Amino acid sequence: MANRIVAIKGDEILDSRGYPTMQVEVGLENGIVAHASVPSGASTGEGEAHELRDGDPQRYGGRGVLKAIANLAEIQRVLYGRDPTDQAGIDRLLIEADGTETKSRLGANAIVGTSMAVARAGAQALGKPLYAYLARSSSYRLPVPMMNVINGGRHAANSLDFQEFMIVPHGAPSFREALRWGAETYHALRTLLAEKGLSAGVGDEGGFAPDLDGNDAACALIVEAIQRAGFIPGEHIALALDPAASSFASGTSYDLAKSGAGRKTSSELQSLYADWTRRFPIVSIEDGFGEHDWSAFRAQTADLGRSIQIVGDDLYVTNPRLIARGVAEKATNSVLIKLNQIGTVTETIAAIVACRDAGWTYIISHRSGETDDAFIADFAVAMEGGQIKAGAPCRGERLAKYNRLLEIERQVAGQSFYTSPFAKGDVATRTDAGHTLQPSPDGHEVVAVIEEASSARRCLTVAQRAAQLDPALSLSALHICVDPARLIAAAEEIDLQKMRELTEGTAQERLAQARRVFESWVAASGARVRWLEHVGGVTSSLLDEIKDAALIAIAQPHNLDSADALHAAIFNAGRLVLYVPTEGALPATFSEHMMIAWKPRTQARKAILRTLPWLHHAKHVTIVTVDEPAAASASAEALTLLKQHGLTAEVRNVRTDAGQHIAARLLAEAEATGADTMVMGAFRFGQIFEWVFGGVTHEILNRTRLPVFMMH
Ligand code: PGA
Ligand code: ZN
Repeated sequence: MANRIVAIKGDEILDSRGYPTMQVEVGLENGIVAHASVPSGASTGEGEAHELRDGDPQRYGGRGVLKAIANLAEIQRVLYGRDPTDQAGIDRLLIEADGTETKSRLGANAIVGTSMAVARAGAQALGKPLYAYLARSSSYRLPVPMMNVINGGRHAANSLDFQEFMIVPHGAPSFREALRWGAETYHALRTLLAEKGLSAGVGDEGGFAPDLDGNDAACALIVEAIQRAGFIPGEHIALALDPAASSFASGTSYDLAKSGAGRKTSSELQSLYADWTRRFPIVSIEDGFGEHDWSAFRAQTADLGRSIQIVGDDLYVTNPRLIARGVAEKATNSVLIKLNQIGTVTETIAAIVACRDAGWTYIISHRSGETDDAFIADFAVAMEGGQIKAGAPCRGERLAKYNRLLEIERQVAGQSFYTSPFAKGDVATRTDAGHTLQPSPDGHEVVAVIEEASSARRCLTVAQRAAQLDPALSLSALHICVDPARLIAAAEEIDLQKMRELTEGTAQERLAQARRVFESWVAASGARVRWLEHVGGVTSSLLDEIKDAALIAIAQPHNLDSADALHAAIFNAGRLVLYVPTEGALPATFSEHMMIAWKPRTQARKAILRTLPWLHHAKHVTIVTVDEPAAASASAEALTLLKQHGLTAEVRNVRTDAGQHIAARLLAEAEATGADTMVMGAFRFGQIFEWVFGGVTHEILNRTRLPVFMMH
């Protein structure tokens, strides 16, 4: 074949800190040329592969990489005439040629640069994008970005000991939306810093580097920024930390010198983390301890590992042998993956396979010193781990990765999915593998929201049936008697431009009317209900009324073509919502035969996970996909998810007739199978105001006579 390696060259370029690094170029016989640039860390683990530097004090303070570049001549001799698509063979030759444990002779920088450039050349030779070339399947998982928005430690000259305070927009429906949510939060954070008179200068990974009163102040500030940007902390956007504790550890003693918090033992530091996980919505902690403090990692994983991700970076340095030790000792439940820590693409993949085999998560990561090379974006998609750490949405070398992910998501539209690795149900599934948990709802009451008299009876009836499914649940009726002026203000607060007009009389009249319906329903049904009265602004006090709710039952909005602030506010609360149809006869049963409308999207997954407490009462579950290009794998994904939770389901993959709306097809299926309840993710419904513009969910609510569990 013509695609043989014929040239390997390199150049000394500068990284994002202005220090030298290498760019490697691989040329093939047929004229294909591929490049890769090598990143470089600042808080490096001791066991990392050896980055070869010149040590010549006359050039770049000894950091030049001319020796490593000179070694490419030897590498070219070794790889000359080889097939670039034989990645494992090439990497083996590189390791053998170097001959040292840490790749110190030829330099891990020369080796990893070659290995990455060869992967690119191989992809080009086969005419594939890099992510497709390295992937196992053609269903692509876009990663959740971990965006480092406040920098400290060795990455910034400020008062923070901990290196990275990250936001994790895991609740977004797509990578593109996740990036927007992250960037908007980053901008809100900048505004907050300005308001507080703090510096908005940035550190090495693009996060702000203010002088704050303590490390925990950084978490508090980020939570405030998430809220300021209009997102729910934890639910939409969570926090992740990388203290990079090796950088302030000596043995098992930790000196929080930058903040002035003094020395801490491993167990004091662990108490601090445990306390923070209660105070802040933290889903992941990386390198909470120094790389030699294995027992502290074990204790932390035993303590917090069931609920959050515990990540080893310096601890493992992407080395499969160290990961094996971590698995044996239950030291963490996740690994940070950096190609240049181990030095070849093949060994990096071996590290990932070790994580997969252990049922651990893994995160593909950049380094603090980066270039515009976006190799890790493709790599993260190909490796399907669902997480990437690539810095703040700031500085070109960080955006290079995120922008490449946008491009990939566009290219694989229809074959990709974006799923939170931190959804509650997922954590339970992972840590309790083998047990089928009987799911029970988070809150302890079903709240029927009575908006007006005309829908009160139906709403109470459906809510009561839901409450009866679990003896631990009580039923409350929350009467919303909103002052129209306040409702309009609330609508503006949540970005809605129009809202339906309230024409049913004065607030007092509507209250009296609803109360009469309620009382006659209670008399007839014999239900025990608590009647709550809610008057005034929607968004804040409403949240208080529904804080114990496991489920909110609410009548469908009367007019779907104009948005409805009350519904938006209820959606914003992040509680599971059950929509009660306002027209037609209600089905005779509830939740005996549940139909799940499935699309391989985050919202569908979430809808299932959030509905589990109700799903497990169903006698029949039917999964329906409509017009899914990869229907078989899409429904297999849904089935697996249900199976993990001890449920089985029948699958129906159907197609629309010409001109038929997907919603109409779904409802025809519900009719044909005799479903009495539906479960919908809010497809194309990431933001409530998209209601105005349509989408499957919109159409379903418009047409159905079934109660619909809905989650976004
Ligand atoms: P580094 O930091 O690239 O400076 O090693 C990144 C990290 O610790 O995750
Ligand atoms: Zn780290």
